[in-house]
Amino acid sequence: MTAQLIDGKKVSQQILQKVAAQVQQRLDNQLRRPCLAVVLVGEDPASAVYVRNKKRACETTGFESRSYELPADTAEDELLALIDEMNADEGIDGILVQLPLPKHINSQMVLERIVPHKDVDGFHPYNIGRLVVKMPLMRPCTPKGVMTLLEAYGIDVVGKKAVIVGASNIVGRPQALEMLLARATVTICHSATQNLAAEVAAADIVVVGVGKPDFIKGEWIKSGAVVIDVGINRLANGQLCGDVEFAVARERAAMITPVPGGVGPMTIATLMENTLHAAQIHDQQ
Ligand code: GUN
Repeated sequence: MTAQLIDGKKVSQQILQKVAAQVQQRLDNQLRRPCLAVVLVGEDPASAVYVRNKKRACETTGFESRSYELPADTAEDELLALIDEMNADEGIDGILVQLPLPKHINSQMVLERIVPHKDVDGFHPYNIGRLVVKMPLMRPCTPKGVMTLLEAYGIDVVGKKAVIVGASNIVGRPQALEMLLARATVTICHSATQNLAAEVAAADIVVVGVGKPDFIKGEWIKSGAVVIDVGINRLANGQLCGDVEFAVARERAAMITPVPGGVGPMTIATLMENTLHAAQIHDQQ
């Protein structure tokens, strides 16, 4: 079997169009354009690319975007003071601090400083907690984007065995919570997991986010499984690849996401959905 490719680019464009139409409707109803503030500290080249893509998505959807590019030696206090200002700014609906932050800054403290209703990344413990208790507010973009992608392809997760590889705060943990909310039976694998191959081989749906090229061997994939590869790795030759051994996995899976063009564009499209949602919450305050 050669797997069907899951086209995240196409689905993300449909989402961006839907968001753009809702922005137009807001303007027709004399409501504000949603405004996303993006903070980048330092000069990490990958982060700079992500931030540029986020700004471009704001243009596509008709959002206002504000950008704060701070030097790598910015003090933690200065960044916290900027967040306080953005929290209080009536013109800003969503705040995103691009990760990773320089090592001298406590990222968790920064994320917790953002008021939860402007936390469009969904990383504040309040928002993670809401997802835990089945009352999500702002949902982390990548895991929510994965669920949107599964839905767009008619992949029913109810009662399926979903194996999540990677237990990060950004991907693995919230992905497991999203899968549980959608009524899958969930296993989370991490660096201490014994016999990862057997866990993966039992999965109807595998979601991988570990950041290591070819970490998941294609031969581990159960025949007919759905494979979602969240990894984006740059090889020495400049090529991008995911965490799954794609060519082999593709011959076993029923459906698989490519890298690039799979989950990546969904993250940004979901960020735009979250920012629109933040603006709607802001309207009611
Ligand atoms: N760095 C890698 N992924 C993300 C993300 O989803 N949000 C933020 N803010 N930073 C990231």
